Amino acid sequence: MSTSAILCSIRPTSSSSTFKNLLSSHYPNKIQTNSSPFSIIPLNLSKSPVSNRKRLNLVTASAPAALESPPKSSFRDKPPKDINVLVVGSTGYIGNFVVKELVKRGFNVIAICREKSGIRGKNSKEDALNRLNGANVCFSDVTQLEILQRSLENLGVSIDVVVSCLASRTGGVKDSWKIDYEATKNSLLAGKKFGAKHFVLLSAICVQKPLLEFQRAKLKFEAELIKEAEEDDTFSYSIVRPTAFFKSLGGQVELVKDGKPYVMFGDGKLCACKPISEPDLASFIADCVLKPDNINKILPIGGPGKALTPLEQGEMLFKLAGKKPNFIKVPIEIMDFVIGVLDFLVNIFPPLEDAAEFGKIGRYYAAESMLIYDPETKRYSDEDTPSYGKDTLEDFFKKVLEEGMAGQELGEQTFF
Ligand SMILES: NC(=O)c1ccc[n+]([C@@H]2O[C@H](COP(=O)([O-])OP(=O)(O)OC[C@H]3O[C@@H](n4cnc5c(N)ncnc54)[C@H](OP(=O)(O)O)[C@@H]3O)[C@@H](O)[C@H]2O)c1
Repeated sequence: MSTSAILCSIRPTSSSSTFKNLLSSHYPNKIQTNSSPFSIIPLNLSKSPVSNRKRLNLVTASAPAALESPPKSSFRDKPPKDINVLVVGSTGYIGNFVVKELVKRGFNVIAICREKSGIRGKNSKEDALNRLNGANVCFSDVTQLEILQRSLENLGVSIDVVVSCLASRTGGVKDSWKIDYEATKNSLLAGKKFGAKHFVLLSAICVQKPLLEFQRAKLKFEAELIKEAEEDDTFSYSIVRPTAFFKSLGGQVELVKDGKPYVMFGDGKLCACKPISEPDLASFIADCVLKPDNINKILPIGGPGKALTPLEQGEMLFKLAGKKPNFIKVPIEIMDFVIGVLDFLVNIFPPLEDAAEFGKIGRYYAAESMLIYDPETKRYSDEDTPSYGKDTLEDFFKKVLEEGMAGQELGEQTFF
């Protein structure tokens, strides 16, 4: 069987889209590049008072970072309406909810976005303005430091806190480094240039066992962020590492509803997670803007309840759908074979680099739990993984059974 035939056999079709949904937790969505990256259009600027940029030159001598007490920066003493929060990745699945939550809490939010945003750039500027209602929307390019800085300069405001929900939409090797590392670093540099004293990073729990390029890119940025706080005692960070999102687990709901089987790898117990909803995660991230307990910490976080394996998720789904359980168990070795072939081919055809990476991503999420990992015992722990929020996977499944997956789209997968 040729490589493409192997891949085609697990490429989603009407009858096999379960594979796509099973494997597609974070990634492969192709996006459209912004055709005019120099377009910087500050819109809808809030009338809330903003700090004088001269404040930037103030260096407050204080205790070293990584101490229990918050760094002595002034923004924590201000009311939310006077705190300027720059959000990058504002148009993403989580970023959009983070903007809503920060606006709800009364912060003065500056949302950076592209002129064409969303999956494959399907959303226009007007769409973005509607979705980011209540925020000051600034169309810019986070991948170019100079442009981003000029956008902020043009806005004429200082920044207190940066929240990054940026992520590669493809999960490809180069794009991961470009977004999860470089663009996120640009946001840190630009934010700091305009006064930011705190950086909240949306990362992922899976970086604790890094085998994939996007995890390495995220870890490199995390390390540099932590170093920044160690060297500048007026600056702090909160690194949020969530478990699985609901969207990553909802892909088989409608298929089961339609009487199709639930597809899982191995015995369905190879991995487990404590899924968290977008609003709950957005609330946790918004807490990080001001909460002293979350300063200079790496914060793994899951949703409420115990961890669930794919088998348990499937059983829950059949029960809710009122159907007799019907599972298809796929040997994980199939993926190892595909990855082996692709890895071999990459040596001959380097353009297959991303295809090989997507195979590894699929393999990773089919077998690794999204829970706290102990590298010594090499075990994942449900009990050690903190919970937050109130939305349960069961309620999410019920909702999708009734209303469908609207708003939970994973986008077009490049391979799976
Ligand atoms: N899925 C899960 O179960 C899971 C679990 C734990 C952690 N995570 C992590 O959570 C993070 C966020 O996930 P998400 O689902 O919210 O991501 P997402 O929906 O794919 O959003 C990505 C954001 O980054 C922006 N972006 C991507 N490429 C860009 C580019 N070239 N230029 C400018 N902006 C760009 C997107 O802007 P556009 O709208 O303009 O494309 C969007 O705002 C990721 O780091 C992921 O690893 C995911």
